[in-house]
Amino acid sequence: MKKIVTKEEPIAKDQLIRLLLTLQEDAVGAITESTESVDTLRLTWLGKNSEFLKLASSMRSVTPEDKQQIGAVLNGVKKSIESALASKQQLTNQQAESTADWFDTTEPGEQPPQGHLHIVTQAIAEITDIFNRLGFTRVRHPEIDWDWYPFEALNMPHSHPASDEWETFYIRYPGSPGKEYKKQKIVLTPHTSNGQVREMEKGVLPIRMINIAKCYRRQIDISHTPMFHQFEGLYVDKNVSIGHLKGVLDYFAKHFFGPDRTTRIRPYHFQFTEPSFEIDISCGICHGKGCKLCKEGWLELGGAGMTHPQVLKNGGVDTTVYNGFAFGWGVERTYMMKSNSNLDDIRLIYGNDIRFLKQF
Ligand code: PHE
Repeated sequence: MKKIVTKEEPIAKDQLIRLLLTLQEDAVGAITESTESVDTLRLTWLGKNSEFLKLASSMRSVTPEDKQQIGAVLNGVKKSIESALASKQQLTNQQAESTADWFDTTEPGEQPPQGHLHIVTQAIAEITDIFNRLGFTRVRHPEIDWDWYPFEALNMPHSHPASDEWETFYIRYPGSPGKEYKKQKIVLTPHTSNGQVREMEKGVLPIRMINIAKCYRRQIDISHTPMFHQFEGLYVDKNVSIGHLKGVLDYFAKHFFGPDRTTRIRPYHFQFTEPSFEIDISCGICHGKGCKLCKEGWLELGGAGMTHPQVLKNGGVDTTVYNGFAFGWGVERTYMMKSNSNLDDIRLIYGNDIRFLKQF
């Protein structure tokens, strides 16, 4: 830093100019190289206590002839310092901008929260896909329906005790009281079998439908929810046999549960199939031999059977030419058996606890 020139000392023009030019060189160099902030640098080089101001104040002691020349130099020096400060400011701004865009590519990433389909939606997609490959097409039928479709159309005479098995929710609706109301009730469908006669009523044969829908029953405990899903297969064609049914069931079991799984059919009773069966799938652990998990080697999947002729007739199908088979299982139950999750409470599926749902 140069010697500070005080007011008292008279100063020669040349010396003052030299001092000013040296100051300019020092200031511009220091501003360019310094890591200090622009504000601090401005204070140092142009502030109240700066050498520049001291030199400027010595203008008072120069002769009027010299004043003009020195004034011009003084202005030039000030401009140079100011422009050095402006460049510095610009550089600082640019650096700030590029730091804002900068990121460390080696830093471990933060995973954004990402959702996925609910397990039941996943199961429905998978089931649909497997049956599509066999030529079954997914269809939709009402989930709120006249009680005729889930019961009478399926060979259960009105008020027949068989319908008690389906603990049905009835809907009261305005406009149909009295006798009329008794005949035509509206229900939340207790099974997807209501879709059988509805599909036949379309009048297109053969039928290869897979009807997946919500079902409702008055039941709630660790293995039941009042709302659940079923998938219902219906095949109506010429010369359909139990062999075809077994083939379709095995195809599904192998593709859904794994190539080493198989099914067996046991005699059962439904009003709308004759003969009727319960379908079991071989246990994934012991393959039918019997183990701690399954006890007997087989796990129960759902119902099936050869479509009762009365049901075909109710749907307007000529039973001298056509016959068929049907099956209906619960989506949740089937999916839980696949994932081997040993879920001790099926209600968790609809509990909306993200910690549970995340696992699937
Ligand atoms: N609908 C029957 C039930 O809910 C299952 C079933 C469907 C049985 C089709 C036979 C044929 O239990």
